[in-house]
Amino acid sequence: MRHLMNPLDFSVEELDRLLDLANDIEANPAKYAHACAGKKLATLFYEPSTRTRLSFEAAMLNLGGSVLGFSSADSSSAAKGESVSDTIRVISGYADICAMRHPKEGAPLVASLKSSIPVINAGDGGHQHPTQTLTDLLTIRSEKGRLHDFTIGLCGDLKFGRTVHSLIQALIRYPNIRFVLISPEELRLPDNIRDDVLVKNNQQFQEMVRLEDALPELDLLYMTRVQKERFFNEEDYIRMKDFYILDKEKMKLAGPNMLILHPLPRVNEISVEIDDDPRAVYFKQAQYGVYVRMALILTLLEVEVC
Ligand code: NCD
Repeated sequence: MRHLMNPLDFSVEELDRLLDLANDIEANPAKYAHACAGKKLATLFYEPSTRTRLSFEAAMLNLGGSVLGFSSADSSSAAKGESVSDTIRVISGYADICAMRHPKEGAPLVASLKSSIPVINAGDGGHQHPTQTLTDLLTIRSEKGRLHDFTIGLCGDLKFGRTVHSLIQALIRYPNIRFVLISPEELRLPDNIRDDVLVKNNQQFQEMVRLEDALPELDLLYMTRVQKERFFNEEDYIRMKDFYILDKEKMKLAGPNMLILHPLPRVNEISVEIDDDPRAVYFKQAQYGVYVRMALILTLLEVEVC
C-alpha cells in the first residue's frame, strides 16, 4: 500500500504517468465516471481549506465514489484529545483512502504508520503540500508543454509557504530550472531547503527582495500569500502582508508569455485587475487540481481504467 507524503514519493516517470492520466481524465471525463463506484474517500481536515478539500471531494464524486469527513479540528474528536493515530485506525474501517490536512508538521506521516488505507498529505503545517505540487506541475506542463528549461520566480512567503517548499523539491528533478526567490528578508526560504535541496543539488538560484527586478527574466511567476496563521505576532504579519502587490503596472515589466500561478487563496498580493490578463492562470490551476487528484486517487487505489 502506498501513501503520498512528499512530492518525491513519486519518481519522475511515475509523475509523468500521473500527469498523462490527469490529461486523459480532463479530455474523457465519462470514461472515469464510475471508476471508483463503491469506494469512499475520507477527508480529515484539522485546518481550514476550500480548494484542497473540495477538489478532493469533487475528484472522488467525479469518479463515482463517495466522501465522508470533517473540515475542522473542533468538529472532530481531536477536540477531545484523540491522537491522529487513533483516528486513522478507526477511519481505516470506514473508508478506502484518506486525505489529511493538519497544522503539525509530520502529522499525516504519523497517521500513515498506523493506517491500513492510503493516506495523502493534504498539507502539514509549514512543511509540505504534495498535492498542490501535483496541481502546479500539471498546470505548468499543460500550459507550457514541458517541465524543464524555465526561470521560475517564487514570490512572497517563502519561509512558511509549504506549497513553495514542495514545488522546489519537485522541480529540481527537471533539467535547466533556475529559481528566483523573491521575498522580504524575514520571509526567506528556510535554510534547510536552501542548503539541503538547492545548494546540495547544484541548483541555479538567486535571492531578491524586489519583484520588479525579477519580472523581466521570468517564464513563470508563482505568487504566494503571507501565511498569517504561522506568524508568532500580529504586528509582524501586518508589516509583511502587503509587501508584494502584483498589478497592471508591474505586469508591464513581464514578458508576453510569463504565466502567473498562485495556489490560492489570494489576499492582496495579486490585484484583481490582473485576473483577465491571459497570463494569469491561477483559476485554471485550481481546476487542474481536480483532474490531478482524480488521477492520484486512481493511482493509489490501483484502479485501472481501460
Ligand atoms: C495553500 C495551502 O493550504 O498551503 N492553499 C491551497 O491548498 N491551495 C496556500 C495557502 O494557504 O496560502
